[in-house]
This record gives sequence, structure tokens and C-alpha cells, in this order.
Amino acid sequence: MLAIDASDIVFDLGDRRVLDHAKLQAEPGEIICIWGPSGGGKSTFLRVLGGIEKPSLGSVRFFGRECDMAKPSPLDEARDEVGFVFQNSALIFNMTIFDNILLPLKFRRDKLRSHRRVHRLLTVSLRDLPLMLWDRHGGDRDLRERVDRAMQNMLVYDLKGKFPHEISLGMQKRAAVARAMALNPKVLLLDEPTGGLDPLSRQSFLALVSNLNKLRNVTIVLVTHELDLPQALGAKVSVMHDGALTEPVPFDRLRDSDVPFVRELFLAEKRPEDGEMLTDERIFERLSGPQAAPKE
Ligand SMILES: Nc1ncnc2c1ncn2[C@@H]1O[C@H](COP(=O)(O)OP(=O)(O)O)[C@@H](O)[C@H]1O
Ligand SMILES: [Mg+2]
Repeated sequence: MLAIDASDIVFDLGDRRVLDHAKLQAEPGEIICIWGPSGGGKSTFLRVLGGIEKPSLGSVRFFGRECDMAKPSPLDEARDEVGFVFQNSALIFNMTIFDNILLPLKFRRDKLRSHRRVHRLLTVSLRDLPLMLWDRHGGDRDLRERVDRAMQNMLVYDLKGKFPHEISLGMQKRAAVARAMALNPKVLLLDEPTGGLDPLSRQSFLALVSNLNKLRNVTIVLVTHELDLPQALGAKVSVMHDGALTEPVPFDRLRDSDVPFVRELFLAEKRPEDGEMLTDERIFERLSGPQAAPKE
């Protein structure tokens, strides 16, 4: 079964058609990079996938479950499978990193509380069962443990008491991924996740994302205009062109694309000198602790 099946997404802004029958399919565990020039509609497409933006037409399914496009909302049950990381991380400035990550977990628990009717209990997903059972005892410990685990996975555990402005951009991005992953989604959507990062933070961030993908088998759709990213992640690339998405292909096959625009873009892009990624072991070795700053 497909992890993501978005078909014929149309998005109009006034007279302008930003998305014109854009399609995307992803198998479970795949990483797909949506690549293309600025202003092409990449972020808009991702927001439609994440249920943040309502398309004019089209449908989105996650693992065969159709999302309600009439009421796009993170409350939609099909979208419980999906974590979203905004381009600017969107951490709440006056909350600690720990509380930032805890907030959506509490939000979901409250949502489950308000869905206690028996037929709701029967339809609730298995993943939420421990959350609900624990909730019967009124405890918060389970949620706090989830936050701790999510922070450990993204190597930001030591930053739990810090506020967003007290940590680096790279750490903010990691915290934002930890916040999305704490809900245990099967699909993770990332908008320009490496924008503005220095080379080392960038590499370690990518290694952590690659780890999540391997260990949790989470399907990832990532928007970027940096062409070395798909190489570093071993991801397929789908190009946003004229409001539509090309068929995802491995990076190397872009140069043979049937679409002239894709071939031109491929050739115009400066090839990275050092597209190679540090291995996960080396990254963890280098990062002696979660707060380890790059040694200049
Ligand atoms: N909420 C919005 N209001 C006005 N214009 C928007 C909005 N969302 C997107 N756009 C416009 O849609 C086009 C595509 O934007 P975007 O999806 O952000 O592109 P990309 O992420 O590829 O740079 C741009 O021209 C942008 O100005
Ligand atoms: Mg964008």
C-alpha cells in the first residue's frame, strides 16, 4: 500500500494556478525530495499534503486513508500519520524546547479525551492505545517519556530547559523534527530543512534524518532547492515544474529526463564538490554531546 498518494492537486490563488494537477506517490520508507526553483509551489504542495492548506481540487491519501479535503486540519484522523516541520521550525518562542515538544502530545491527548464515545474507542489507532490507557489514570509521565525519547533521537536532550532563541538554528531544526516525531507519525514532511545551516550542522542534521528513516521506516517528503540533498540522502527527486511534479527518479536519472526543463536545471546546478555524507557512526562520534558545537 502506498504511504502517500496525492493526486491531481490543483491550487489557485486568485487568477494564478500555483499547483496544476500535481501528483505524488511514495512507497513506505521512501525519501522523496521535491526540488525546483523558488516560487514554484513546492511549499504550497507540502502544506496541502500536511492539511494546512486546502486545495481547490484533488485528493490526498495516507496508507489508503483519504484525508478530508473539505476540512483540511491536523485533526483529521488520516493526518495523524503525518508530521510537519516548517521552514522556520515554528517553535513557540516563550516555551522551553521540552514544552514545545510536549504541546502537540497534550493536544492529541485532549483530542482523544473528547472522543471517548465507544465507537470512537474502536476506531482509534493502536498507537494511541497506550496514550489513552495511561490517560485514564490522569498521568503525564508517558507523554514526558515520549518527549525525552524524541529529544534523544534527535540529539537535543540536553537542551530541554532552553528556550528557542538560546539555541542554534541547527538545534532548532532538530527540535522541530523531534516535536513532529514525538507523535510517532509514519510520514514526515520537511520544508527546506537545511536552509541557513552551516556545513557541519547540515551534515549532522541529514544524518539524523537518514537515521530516522532507516530506524523508524518513516516515509519522508522533503522540499529543497539544494541538489546535493537528494544525493546525500539517497532520495528520489521529483521536480516542481509549471505547477506539476515530475515522476520521482533517483538523482542520477535527472540528466536523462524527458522534460527539457529538468535537464536544464540539472546542468545549471553547480555540482557539489563534496556531496558525500559523513556516516552515522562518525556523526555520533563527532557529536560528543547533544550540545556539542562544531569545533572550528
Ligand atoms: N498564502 C499565500 N498568499 C499569497 N501568495 C502565496 C501564498 N502561498 C503561496 N503563494 C504564492 O504561490 C507561489 C508558490 O509559492 P511557494 O509554494 O512558497 O513556492 P516555493 O516553496 O517553491 O518557493 C508563489 O508565487 C507565492 O508567492
Ligand atoms: Mg518554499
